[in-house]
Amino acid sequence: MIKANYPVQKFSEIQTPFYYYDLQVLRSTLKEINLQANKSDFHVHYAMKANVNPSVLNVIKDAGLGADCVSGGEVEAAITAGILPSKVVFAGVGKADWEINLGLDHDIFCFNVESIPELEVINELAAAKGKVAKVALRINPNVSAHTHHYITTGLNENKFGINMSDLNQVIDLFPSMPNVKLIGIHFHIGSQITDMTSFQDLCVKANELQELFVSRNIILDHINVGGGLGINYEHPNHFPIPDFEAYFKIFRDHLVLQPNQTLHFELGRAVVAQCGSLISRVLYVKQGTSKKFAILDAGFTDLIRPALYQAYHRIENLSSELPLVEYDVVGPICESSDTFIKEYEMNETKRGDIIALRSAGAYGEIMASQYNLRKLPKAYTSDELQNR
Ligand code: LLP
Repeated sequence: MIKANYPVQKFSEIQTPFYYYDLQVLRSTLKEINLQANKSDFHVHYAMKANVNPSVLNVIKDAGLGADCVSGGEVEAAITAGILPSKVVFAGVGKADWEINLGLDHDIFCFNVESIPELEVINELAAAKGKVAKVALRINPNVSAHTHHYITTGLNENKFGINMSDLNQVIDLFPSMPNVKLIGIHFHIGSQITDMTSFQDLCVKANELQELFVSRNIILDHINVGGGLGINYEHPNHFPIPDFEAYFKIFRDHLVLQPNQTLHFELGRAVVAQCGSLISRVLYVKQGTSKKFAILDAGFTDLIRPALYQAYHRIENLSSELPLVEYDVVGPICESSDTFIKEYEMNETKRGDIIALRSAGAYGEIMASQYNLRKLPKAYTSDELQNR
């Protein structure tokens, strides 16, 4: 079994479970993003919701990416990390007044607006500050993302965004709202999308919509196509960097931009997933009636994706080269959903072995909880461990 090239000796000196971020993988990923995006004038805003670990954010900031935020906390974290407010977009169906005010105070690049009542509140709050808020309308393009139903977001009947059928009505409101300026349109069709035709469909829908705006003499500064590019959870060692070349090419080839119009992206998972692993120890190996259970000291409080979305994370026993044996790999939490994977072959394991749950850099540490009054997992980077 091919495994990650991790400093296992150093891991064995650290209290588990913890997140480990390989910053070389992150830097290579960002280099590839910039190489491919810069072939055109594409602007990438990192979707902060995937991971806000300060060391990870620092590398992302150094690479020059902007930020896509969905809460006041994320806006604050982006700005604290040194990402320029002029590169911050702020989305979310339920922005509270303080969060909108925070965005206004920092003069962020754009609010991605998801409903008429929200637009009215932004207009009021901006008026109170004597400002004009730049907004993009988040539109449901009704494109299927062919992904897990929990993370599909671009279909018509959805809490997110504005339906195409309501668009003319929304556009009609702008002349009566002097404190909001329409500068763009925004889409997001879902996450962990591996079927690239979904993005082609999105381009077609975006082009159609552009025609509507042009027919109403509205020229938008930008189009924001959201995020969603998937990663290879099965083979992180073979495919550590997603195919950004193919991804950006789809938009270059299929999305028709107006003169001077810019194209924006909000990538989360594709940026950070493969650089992170959850590192755990085997506490016990328990022989059931017909199965063996490998009981880890990490549970769904540390990585909830398998329990919540039946997500697959590759699991490697970093301490063993023994033949493969089948296990149910489970956590210590008092719920049967605390199972990372069933009937999974890994190198034969014993108490104390170090286990890596791979591709956990996105929606891992950030979704951790303290259920059962467990401690939140710590995190270490490759740079830090090198100097230890
Ligand atoms: N933009 C918007 C408006 C979004 O809602 C999202 C993700 C993104 C960008 C970033 O999408 P990405 O490039 O990461 O696919 N917790 C789930 C994923 C939820 C994604 C929610 N929205 C998981 O662990 O799979």
